[in-house]
Amino acid sequence: MNAITSKFPTAALIDGTWVTAQKSFSVSDPATGEEIARVPDLGADDARRAIDAAAKAFPAWAATPAKARAQILERWFDLITAETEALAQLMTAEQGKPLAEARGEVAYGASFIEWFAEEGKRAYGRTIPTTVASRRYITIKQPIGVVAAITPWNFPIAMITRKVASALAAGCTIVVKPSEETPLCALAVAKLAMDAGVPPGVFNVITSADAASVGNVLTSDPRVRKLTFTGSTEIGRLLYRQCADTIKKLTLELGGNAPLIVFDDADLKQAIAGTMASKYRNAGQTCVCANRIIVQAGIYERFTAALVDAVSSLHVAPGRDPRSTIGPLINADAAKKVESLISDAVSHGAKIRTGGAPDTQGALFYQPTVVTEVTPDMKIAQEEIFGPVASLIRFETEADAIRIANDTPFGLAAYLFTQNIGRVWRVAEALESGMVGVNEGVFSNEVAPFGGVKQSGLGREGAAEGLEEYLETKFICLGGIS
Ligand code: SIN
Repeated sequence: MNAITSKFPTAALIDGTWVTAQKSFSVSDPATGEEIARVPDLGADDARRAIDAAAKAFPAWAATPAKARAQILERWFDLITAETEALAQLMTAEQGKPLAEARGEVAYGASFIEWFAEEGKRAYGRTIPTTVASRRYITIKQPIGVVAAITPWNFPIAMITRKVASALAAGCTIVVKPSEETPLCALAVAKLAMDAGVPPGVFNVITSADAASVGNVLTSDPRVRKLTFTGSTEIGRLLYRQCADTIKKLTLELGGNAPLIVFDDADLKQAIAGTMASKYRNAGQTCVCANRIIVQAGIYERFTAALVDAVSSLHVAPGRDPRSTIGPLINADAAKKVESLISDAVSHGAKIRTGGAPDTQGALFYQPTVVTEVTPDMKIAQEEIFGPVASLIRFETEADAIRIANDTPFGLAAYLFTQNIGRVWRVAEALESGMVGVNEGVFSNEVAPFGGVKQSGLGREGAAEGLEEYLETKFICLGGIS
């Protein structure tokens, strides 16, 4: 342990108690490969204990007035905000993203807590005009119950707070299984939640390198009424199947293959700024990163030259280096995948305009890359790259752009750059995606519903829609009124 990791717990959290285990697993810094901490490697029995705790804590938390729950969440928001620097350093150490981005993620993660603290007070039911004179109809909103959350490594704080804050605001209790790549941030925010006054059992964290065993328990236990997952479509499909037997409610934030369309009439500066932000954030490791940059023939060469120029200003270095804008990839599999997609594209005729090779900074660093002459049938256009690689496809007409953009089983984010207001509406409506950025490369925030269509998932997170995911609507028919 070092100064960065020693400030926060390295034990798991069950029923308000910090839990260690005989078995542990290693958490390493992807920039150096060095171990930075060890955390308990919990298993199926521990997951069941965490569900026991969440089930026991549920009635009292559900009965706590929304205002009182909001006050605890507001304290949690304040504590996270006050610890921004320590949390950002921890995140950079275990996940690799540049410090400036890590600070941004702490603020982004905290924003969900602030938002849901308020929104929880507005879980309104309805009165419904009656159909029978002796009856009155009303609906009330109630928390769904115990929730299980399985969270990813690419946003190790925000993807936890986006789920936990909405669940807690609704009156649910929760068991979180964070990614084994980034458990430390999960434990850090859980500690701050305890400090803020979240009661024992309301928020539990199971650290484990055995995702399959823990996942099995979380998806099969009938007391868990909802599963929320952010990760790959492949694992999402498996969890969806596993939840079928107990008919759990599901939120699935899965893979994407985001098109970013640049029309001839785009403002070039705006299109480059948007592409840089969308593509190279977190070294290209977000589900909403532009994966296929679809550029109209009339602006293709100018756009390519300007993008290559902008990419040359990126600085590849460990995230703790203040100049870093591109950190390491998360692990060796991720690096291998980027290399194989590039070599497949080149073997089918794509051209590397800059980058295109591992970086000398270390095993998991990859040069920011621009590849042109990509065609929609290439693997690089069909699979999620999850690396700092912009792949450019050429198109001729608006109809072509829409057809290429929608020619994927995924539908999370899409982007378009144009100055034509009619085209904005036509294309935004035609794109098969849950979210569309118009002349913007980054749009995620706490007040907007985040989520996808097609095989990119189910449900929405953030915004009023995000609270609804943790609530049941109960209809009450009040009869015998004379
Ligand atoms: C993700 O990549 O899963 C989340 C990205 C975001 O919230 O912007």
